[in-house]
Amino acid sequence: MYPPRARIKLSAGRRFIPKPMDWSALRDRLLASPRFHRWMLAIPGLRSIARLQSRRLFDLVAGFSYSQVLLSCVELKVFEKLVAGPRRADQLQQELGLNDRSFDVLMRAAVALELLEWRTAPSGEISAAEATKEPQAYLGLGMLGAVVAGNKAIAAMVMHHKSVYQDLDDPVALLRDPSKTTQLREYWAYTRESMADNRQALTLQQVSDYSELMAASQPLVAEQVLAAYDFSKHRCLLDMGGGQGAFLAAVAKAYPKLRLMLFDLPAVVQKARSVLADQGLGGRMSFHGGSFFSDPAPTGADLISLVRVLYDHSDERVMTILKSARRALSAQGGWLLLAEPMSGTPGAEAMGDAYFGLYLLAMGKGRARTSQELGRLLAAAGFQRVESIATRLPLQTGLMRAYAAPG
Ligand SMILES: C[S@@+](CC[C@H](N)C(=O)[O-])C[C@H]1O[C@@H](n2cnc3c(N)ncnc32)[C@H](O)[C@@H]1O
Repeated sequence: MYPPRARIKLSAGRRFIPKPMDWSALRDRLLASPRFHRWMLAIPGLRSIARLQSRRLFDLVAGFSYSQVLLSCVELKVFEKLVAGPRRADQLQQELGLNDRSFDVLMRAAVALELLEWRTAPSGEISAAEATKEPQAYLGLGMLGAVVAGNKAIAAMVMHHKSVYQDLDDPVALLRDPSKTTQLREYWAYTRESMADNRQALTLQQVSDYSELMAASQPLVAEQVLAAYDFSKHRCLLDMGGGQGAFLAAVAKAYPKLRLMLFDLPAVVQKARSVLADQGLGGRMSFHGGSFFSDPAPTGADLISLVRVLYDHSDERVMTILKSARRALSAQGGWLLLAEPMSGTPGAEAMGDAYFGLYLLAMGKGRARTSQELGRLLAAAGFQRVESIATRLPLQTGLMRAYAAPG
């Protein structure tokens, strides 16, 4: 806040009103000054702030290299090889098929990023004296590597990012020409409007890869939604854009009495049918193939979910989807549940605006929205009582609900 404008009496009838202090301009000038940095580093109390800022900036520069270390470990299945316990470094090197220098570079990098850890030999394998001579003879999972090892969804997402990194290799070219051909546009075939509007246009082959990826990563989202929302007050759930049915399968297991309906493009529904039949859940669901933009959403549910769907679309198309959901609930009234990463998530601002901003630009459609923006779209589509629901891991998914009154 600016200090109140002081009025200084100058001479009869004239007042001098000093300009309010522009703190941001002062801060910018100081931070841009190498002399100010040297001064901060010289003062013990300020040194830690200067170090933290330098480290944050360095991480922005180096982030791409860090991503490549993670990608290499996932692609070479390093975490899978260590999940049963630490391994001798020389054996691991042989299995990975890397020469001494490459292995050394990758392992040191992975240890520095807490993906791996140097370990001492498991007891009994070598003597204590030998272990002290060779402190880096064994490798085990690090704090972050253990999380990746325990979660197939993360590994699937990391592998998918090979295409993302290629699409973003010249970000300025993409920013100048967002209609540029990218791998992500090909991958998410429904983002081409000619495809999404013609419900039959997409083949099983065109929807398979993205549907598999979504199914693999869905447990991360479903876990958050199930921990935050009580489905027991509902009788029938329709999942719009439900993919291969991974979200419905998770809800079905937690709520055995809930009736379930799935709506997605016909080729995706064809996949969902066989996947859910294999899980013994086919009998509990009804399947509806169609497009949001040319077919009405099926009726009969008192709860509709849109999980990771809206952020793929423009505001205009989001309105079409929301109005379709609103109509489907209009006979008896019901609730809409939105689950997706949201912009402006406290503590995860970079996820919505820096990560999804560029990802969706490369994909050619959609944007991450704030809960306020989603709230406005919901209200404009005729929903009432819009509210945000806290999730345990908002980085994974945000959650909102809104009510559609009967009629
Ligand atoms: C990002 S995926 C999310 C899938 C699933 N909800 C999940 O979270 O795993 C978006 C889903 O919307 C579906 N979709 C896209 N455009 C559609 C359309 N016009 N009509 C129906 N479904 C559509 C896609 O086929 C895909 O399954």
